Amino acid sequence: MWDLPVLPVLRQPRKLVIVTSGGDSPGMNAAIRAVVRSAIHRGIRVLGSDKGYTGLVDDDLQPMGTASVGNILHRGGTVLKSDRCEDFKRPEVRAEAGRLLRQRGVDGLVVIGGDGSLTGAHLLAAETGIPVVGLPGTIDNDIYGTDDTIGFDTAVNTGLDAIDRIRDTAHSHERVFLVEVMGRSSGFIALAVGIAGGAESILLPDAPVDLPDLVERLNQSKKRGKNSSLIVVAEGHDPQLTQGLAARLSEHGHQARACILGHIQRGGSPTGHDRVLATCLGASAVDHLCAGQSDIMLGVQHGRISAVPLHDVVSNRKALPVGIMELAQVLAH
Ligand code: ADP
Ligand code: F6P
Repeated sequence: MWDLPVLPVLRQPRKLVIVTSGGDSPGMNAAIRAVVRSAIHRGIRVLGSDKGYTGLVDDDLQPMGTASVGNILHRGGTVLKSDRCEDFKRPEVRAEAGRLLRQRGVDGLVVIGGDGSLTGAHLLAAETGIPVVGLPGTIDNDIYGTDDTIGFDTAVNTGLDAIDRIRDTAHSHERVFLVEVMGRSSGFIALAVGIAGGAESILLPDAPVDLPDLVERLNQSKKRGKNSSLIVVAEGHDPQLTQGLAARLSEHGHQARACILGHIQRGGSPTGHDRVLATCLGASAVDHLCAGQSDIMLGVQHGRISAVPLHDVVSNRKALPVGIMELAQVLAH
């Protein structure tokens, strides 16, 4: 649980827009609800952008009231819809979006999304001067400046549920299962799911797979009487990696199967953790805009809500925790 920083009201916006952008994540709706209700409580009007930045570009903004965010707290996805809007990467398109926002009297934005969305948020704030607060909304947890992102906990629990089920059949058939989890080019989901699921190996994106070493470890496991194993694979740049590895392990005498969890991890009801995180960050985004702050992302660090300049967020890469990676190896026997 995170307490909300108490901030002075220095420049209360009159009209806010909420944007959910990039890959959706469980908890985005909880954040939307918190922004809408906190803003309305302060007398601020709120509009929702339809389908991410596309709504800003097309001027497709719908008014949001207290009732419009009822009954969404427990739902995955985003009621505002999301999109990958390539056009928004062009400065002239952002300038036009800024002009449309000003024309409507919009003087504040809350953008909820991943690394790409936060890059767009930073550029919009810097180029148009419209105050923007970003929130980390992605299952990947690959955002610099925050320990946690909205949706990560739910995705990890979804992955874990799948792993627990796969273990049953792996055990019955004495098979090796390679379970591929999402995370784009980062390994946070893989590491968390692997640790919590007791994986025999965790294959992370930045480390090349050492097939002879993997085969040797599986051979040793077998010798110790362990006839089934579970390997968590982080999706990386090679879409064929997991299937290919299963084929190779089979050639080396291990009956292996690949299971790719894919978008299952993006859906479903958010965990309590994600609902609370999203709610605190959503409410705090309104507080920070009212305190005159802009071009920042709110996250959590050392148990507190923290504000980090968006420029720093998007120009740094969050590192995987080395100690946990080593621990995973020690425990895998
Ligand atoms: P995520 O936000 O989950 O990382 P993407 O990387 O696909 O997902 O980015 C989502 C959207 O953010 C893009 O479709 C685009 O509209 C916007 N965006 C991404 N990168 C940039 C960029 N460099 N400049 C401006 N907008 C960007
Ligand atoms: O960024 C979230 C994420 O789910 C990644 O883990 C994954 O690589 C990507 O989005 C998938 O994107 P799409 O939904 O466009 O296939």
